[in-house]
Amino acid sequence: MTDIKHETAGQDEHVAPVEAWDAIAAQYDEHVAPGEADLATAALRLAGLQAGDTFLDVAAGTGGLSLPAARLGAEVLATDWSPKMIERFEARARVEGLEVEGRVMDCHALDLPDDSYDVVGSQFGVMLVPDQARALREMVRVTKPGGHVLLIAYGDVARFEAFHVFLSAIQAVVPDFEGPAEDEPMLEFQVADPEVLRQRLIDARLTDVTVDIRHEERITVRTGQQLWDWTVGSNPIPGMLVADLTDTQRADILRVLDGMLRERGDGDGSAVLTAPLNIGVGTKQGAVPE
Ligand SMILES: C[S@@+](CC[C@H](N)C(=O)[O-])C[C@H]1O[C@@H](n2cnc3c(N)ncnc32)[C@H](O)[C@@H]1O
Repeated sequence: MTDIKHETAGQDEHVAPVEAWDAIAAQYDEHVAPGEADLATAALRLAGLQAGDTFLDVAAGTGGLSLPAARLGAEVLATDWSPKMIERFEARARVEGLEVEGRVMDCHALDLPDDSYDVVGSQFGVMLVPDQARALREMVRVTKPGGHVLLIAYGDVARFEAFHVFLSAIQAVVPDFEGPAEDEPMLEFQVADPEVLRQRLIDARLTDVTVDIRHEERITVRTGQQLWDWTVGSNPIPGMLVADLTDTQRADILRVLDGMLRERGDGDGSAVLTAPLNIGVGTKQGAVPE
């Protein structure tokens, strides 16, 4: 792995360091990743992934795109800067008997040759990095001419239901809880505007760029504890925000969440929380090799 993470993390003090992602790898694997498989499969199909293709997953976590790609018959390399995420990915692949490779790597400087992969994708990964333009150029560099680049990112934060339910339950118990600073937009939503995502893919020299806004993330939960686990497992920032709450406050928040979810529930006791997505796909220019 290169030292680039230190360079880029220094650009923005709100970037969670690699250690913070390592620390949530187990929760991510248990509470977040399993719910994403259908979305990932649909996105891989949008990007034209075929059995036998080479597929590179960038900021792969525990295999959000990699495991579905391998199940579709692709030859997969998963990369992430968090060694713990890659360990979890490898463990999941072993259990399923999937032949895949995982490597620890920073997405701002991929240690991979040019023009190597049929499809290169990132789901909720390059979406949130501090130098996204650079990471996208790297994704394009390692894609074969004629191959496809896929980026899955959150849309409008105002419609991210899990985030707002979680925040309002905390504020019901701790009225002066502020949540994320409003004057510093979260990197997680830097391409929430589909036009911004489209332009960034074009700036990375992709052609035939499309941004599909029809898909949404769907989180199904039955209890406040499940929503808490999903939220603090999905990204290090929520865990940092709630780190100073007392045990009593946490217990009260869980009770408030239980009530909110019951109100939203659809009869079988489960509630579905959605978030809008932007799924960008582009093609690398150049002659397709014979
Ligand atoms: C929200 S998770 C998404 C994981 C996975 N792509 C998925 O769909 O489940 C974000 C991932 O980005 C990784 N990440 C963050 N910054 C990175 C960087 N500079 N280089 C590589 N991976 C990075 C984190 O370690 C984490 O695994």
